[in-house]
Amino acid sequence: MIIRPMARGDAETVHAIHGACLTRTLLGRYTHEQITAWMDGRTPEGYVRASEAGERFFVAEADGVVVGYASWEDDELLSLFVHPDCQSRGIGSALVEACLADAECTGGAITKVKSVLGAEAFYAKHGFASECRGSTAKRGVEIPDARMRREHPGGPVQLLASPGAKPFQP
Ligand SMILES: CC(C)(COP(=O)(O)OP(=O)(O)OC[C@H]1O[C@@H](n2cnc3c(N)ncnc32)[C@H](O)[C@@H]1OP(=O)(O)O)[C@@H](O)C(=O)NCCC(=O)NCCS
Repeated sequence: MIIRPMARGDAETVHAIHGACLTRTLLGRYTHEQITAWMDGRTPEGYVRASEAGERFFVAEADGVVVGYASWEDDELLSLFVHPDCQSRGIGSALVEACLADAECTGGAITKVKSVLGAEAFYAKHGFASECRGSTAKRGVEIPDARMRREHPGGPVQLLASPGAKPFQP
């Protein structure tokens, strides 16, 4: 398996993986109405546009076939989907780690994710902790999620004034 940046030619497959995850993996945790609202209006071109606007997408490819994707922007992991036939083989973990590493390489850090209900245990394995429940409205339908945060491995930077330190004078 390799992880690589998404190319324009991957958009159809990425879109299909998203749809398969919603209708096969997430139906049951979400209602039919919620799944329909979630998918409504999405097109392959939408992933390309988001990528061109700055969202960083990676795909996982196994034997030349794209089987999963993930994306992040600013300090947030925005999407993570592995085709239902290929889940539980370490692909999702590899995609998360690729995004975390990409953020580090570009001088940033991913510190939050809106987890779908039921995936909190997966994200906990990657250092995210649940903060609260939230929801996003799509096409007027509320889609609940779990807001999770992860501390940047470098930790928050603290400037400590040491007692007796002389102020810097050029
Ligand atoms: C969540 C998801 C991306 C994980 O990808 P994956 O390739 O199946 O994950 P991995 O194989 O790396 O799994 C690693 C571990 O997490 C566990 N895991 C996977 N999905 C899980 C879930 N939904 N809830 C709890 N644990 C989960 C696996 O059992 C595995 O545990 P183990 O190593 O102790 O056996 C994938 O299941 C998926 O696409 N689900 C549907 C869409 C989704 O929920 N996306 C998250 C959007 S916020």
